[in-house]
Amino acid sequence: MTQEDKIRWFVIEESTALIKAAADLILASAQCAILEHDRFSLVLAGGTTPREVYERLAQSDAQWDKWHLYYGDERCLPSDDDERNSEMVRATGLSEKVAAHFSIPAELGAERAAEEYESLIESALPFDLVLLGMGEDGHTASLFPGYEIDDSRFVVPVHDAPKPPPDRVSLTPKALGQCNEMMVLVTGAAKADALRRWVSGEELPVSRVTSSAQGPVTVLTDQRQALDPEK
Ligand code: 6PG
Repeated sequence: MTQEDKIRWFVIEESTALIKAAADLILASAQCAILEHDRFSLVLAGGTTPREVYERLAQSDAQWDKWHLYYGDERCLPSDDDERNSEMVRATGLSEKVAAHFSIPAELGAERAAEEYESLIESALPFDLVLLGMGEDGHTASLFPGYEIDDSRFVVPVHDAPKPPPDRVSLTPKALGQCNEMMVLVTGAAKADALRRWVSGEELPVSRVTSSAQGPVTVLTDQRQALDPEK
């Protein structure tokens, strides 16, 4: 499968429709995974884009006792800080629904949290579905342009991140790519330039991660212009 074959690009300009499509795709992925191996291991994206998708999931009917939630990255803040990705997920009601919720212990500091989470996820690989967002600079998880990625590891500490807070923990392409499916949610005009650069073949953290994916990648975006510049 070439890189181009691996990625399916979907433009959904209406935000409620995009949120519904993302949630429905995740629920369908869960049903297949549970049928196949009686478990659904899902890596959650942080940031703000996925919040309404998680709210919709939490209101859905699913075999929650088979769902295992992980995180693609976390910010080094106290565990109850509103800016934590795990707090964003908790506020949507999703983490309370599932059988197993494995947050990254980023309150311990980046190095220690990376070590602890690495040993936890090694036994969880491969993931069934990895969800990702993308920043305006093409970053994903907490993998930022111009920052070396230690691809010998599954989880790495991140310092001096350009997106606050500066200290973070992130899964690497080596971990994120070990998945049966990957989904990237990219919404908002602010992301259009990075999306255009991605589509034109520029190497960005997001493209480095998607090209590491073992399974198909679905990109859902509301930015038609970025994908079809002629239109
Ligand atoms: C984080 C996220 C990060 C996020 C992108 C997009 O911790 O900030 O993991 O990678 O997915 O920055 O963020 P928004 O969804 O808020 O635009």
